[in-house]
Amino acid sequence: MDVAGKVAFITGGASGIGFGIARTLVANGARVVLADLRQDHLDNAAEHFAQRQEARNVHTIRLDVTDRAAMAAAADEADATFGGTDILISNAGVGLEGALAEATYADWDFGLAVNLGGVVNGLQTFVPRMRARGTGGHVVNTASLAGMVVMPSFMAIYATGKAAVIALSESIRDGLAEDGIGVSVLCPGPIKSNIHEAAQNRPERFRAGSGFAAAEERLSQRKVSDLWMEPDEVGQMVLGAIRENRLYVITHGEWRDAVVARTDAILAAMPTSVNQELIASLRAHR
Ligand SMILES: NC(=O)c1ccc[n+]([C@@H]2O[C@H](COP(=O)([O-])OP(=O)(O)OC[C@H]3O[C@@H](n4cnc5c(N)ncnc54)[C@H](O)[C@@H]3O)[C@@H](O)[C@H]2O)c1
Repeated sequence: MDVAGKVAFITGGASGIGFGIARTLVANGARVVLADLRQDHLDNAAEHFAQRQEARNVHTIRLDVTDRAAMAAAADEADATFGGTDILISNAGVGLEGALAEATYADWDFGLAVNLGGVVNGLQTFVPRMRARGTGGHVVNTASLAGMVVMPSFMAIYATGKAAVIALSESIRDGLAEDGIGVSVLCPGPIKSNIHEAAQNRPERFRAGSGFAAAEERLSQRKVSDLWMEPDEVGQMVLGAIRENRLYVITHGEWRDAVVARTDAILAAMPTSVNQELIASLRAHR
């Protein structure tokens, strides 16, 4: 589907990748709702569009994607502002990392509530509204290449959430297609953004008992490299995937060998024998 004249709701839309997607969609005729936890990011993004005389095509909402009631209220606000949402971009995420031995329930709950739960909440909030309107649409979920390759244990919480977002996106595609709703999953490599600011993006209820305070302090010092991709380039890739309803959007080829190695290891562990009767019986019960 084309994006001109459409309305997109972008979580984490006021910084980094989400902001790059927002700029690309607005430049191609869409109106966007930027839903973000951080008021400073929302203010910067609003200022960016105001300077370009594009403020009328952009609406900002402060939202924590882990808060389901607030997300429903944000969807109502988006409906009231621009009419119904055609494109949902569930992109809000946090760059959680730290030694596995230091991870506590607070860290697991924080990482999974935002990086996976935020995507689930987007799906549950927006897809019924899209279905009810009956005009189709598109869902883009931001995962990561970290969900496709075997990651080191200090990234376990992040990798777990991102792998789940990939599986979620793959498995909902046939069901949403029945209502003309496409699905894409964005798997970025290194992109210029503020993802190192995880500590500032930790909602209050996930702070007590965290074992990652020192790791988050180290992460906050990380410098964004010139070698990393520009968010606007990612925006163009996402635009193409929406237009052509492509499932996978993978920004980098540098992890190709790692994907091959993992796939080879899975195939090596999988028996080659196939019981056709078993397959037929499972198909019959679908
Ligand atoms: N930058 C990368 O290299 C990279 C690589 C792979 C995947 N990703 C993924 O891309 C997505 C965007 O991240 P980014 O790199 O642009 O980082 P970013 O920090 O620049 O942008 C993320 C935005 O999400 C917002 N946010 C965080 N928690 C939120 C919450 N609970 N509710 C609503 N908004 C929230 C932040 O305020 C921020 O504006 C994330 O899902 C991230 O995991 C990024």
